[in-house]
Amino acid sequence: MPSRRAEPAPFPLPPNATIGIIGGGQLGRMSALAAARLGLRCHILTPDTDSPAGQVAAGTTHGDYDDPVALHRFAESVDVVTFEFENVSAEGLDLLASLRPVRPAPAILRISQDRAAEKSFLNRAGAATAPWRPVGSRDDLVAAVAELGLPAVLKTTRLGYDGKGQVVLRTPDDIASAFEQLHPKPLILEKFVDFSHEISVIVARAEDGTLASFDTVENRHREQILDLTLAPARVAPEIAAAAQGLARRIAEALDLVGLLAVEMFVGADGRVLVNEIAPRPHNSGHWTIDACPVSQFELHIRAVAGLPLPPAVRHADAAMKNLVGLEEVALWPEILATPGLCAHHYGKREARPGRKMGHVTRLFPKGALPGDEGVALALGPVPFSRAG
Ligand SMILES: Nc1ncnc2c1ncn2[C@@H]1O[C@H](COP(=O)(O)OP(=O)(O)O)[C@@H](O)[C@H]1O
Ligand SMILES: [Mg+2]
Repeated sequence: MPSRRAEPAPFPLPPNATIGIIGGGQLGRMSALAAARLGLRCHILTPDTDSPAGQVAAGTTHGDYDDPVALHRFAESVDVVTFEFENVSAEGLDLLASLRPVRPAPAILRISQDRAAEKSFLNRAGAATAPWRPVGSRDDLVAAVAELGLPAVLKTTRLGYDGKGQVVLRTPDDIASAFEQLHPKPLILEKFVDFSHEISVIVARAEDGTLASFDTVENRHREQILDLTLAPARVAPEIAAAAQGLARRIAEALDLVGLLAVEMFVGADGRVLVNEIAPRPHNSGHWTIDACPVSQFELHIRAVAGLPLPPAVRHADAAMKNLVGLEEVALWPEILATPGLCAHHYGKREARPGRKMGHVTRLFPKGALPGDEGVALALGPVPFSRAG
């Protein structure tokens, strides 16, 4: 049982201070591993008794994210609170913020928890998104379809991940069934973007305004779950630069202290549209563990602990492939036997369809990221979805 502290350690946190992480998944696990390298401890809040993060952290508070008693015990065990899981209630966040510094700030989490708030914020900050409309009723949906046209995507405003809570509408006949599937949750309708690429940027920001962002990367999804990330993105330099500018502008508009991932679409016309933001480490930044002197997880920990942020440089190009579900993690013995694959297992005992079990990263000399055939060859036994 960690000792209770009346007062948290001041920033910058010294070695052996404790960072509290809400959520016990792989993002927390890799954050805790990065913190350990800096001599910092992590303490996890999760309902799970054998969580990926808890397995490698200094301590865990077992409890629900909305249980005030658990939140209290958790906050009193740590010097600062951050999260790898975004869906903490507003009351829970307020309670935490009354006890300890919370980084990124609860107001940022609230924006990212709600797609309507997120898109309104982005549009106000001058970041273009796919055209969208709030949908509260079937009449709203009919009107939104008339305004935006089809195809379009109906999304729940809250609790979506890996494509959950989304239905694509292709013809007017899809309206009724899509609405039935997702109603009565609050919804938005978004125009379907005919994108040439999905890209993302991960940016960290310190309290003094220092920014550090990793190069723009390219993401391929399979069944709406991230499958492959290529670093750097194989897009025109102007597009990569536009993405950098957007990510930095959004971090500033949020007055971020912490780490932020910005997912974007490159339209067929070359315009960069923001899809969504996540104020935490992101799956499209896992390659940074192996390709960068300071990974996204270390930058996250540094930003939260008030430590200096070095520039987010990389010493290699990289391809990162997720291991999703039973079939892919079953390749683990072959992966371990393949020279050159950096292998990461999240310690989850049970594989389920769509569950992220681990990832592999393959490095290439800087500037030598090959085309799809070369990437396929370099990933050895692990198949990925090719560009369509
Ligand atoms: N408006 C859209 N147009 C085209 N593809 C979309 C659109 N919205 C989502 N997608 C696809 O679905 C994936 C998941 O959607 P996203 O909005 O990022 O939700 P989440 O990641 O929270 O599940 C995206 O990465 C993209 O591949
Ligand atoms: Mg997404």
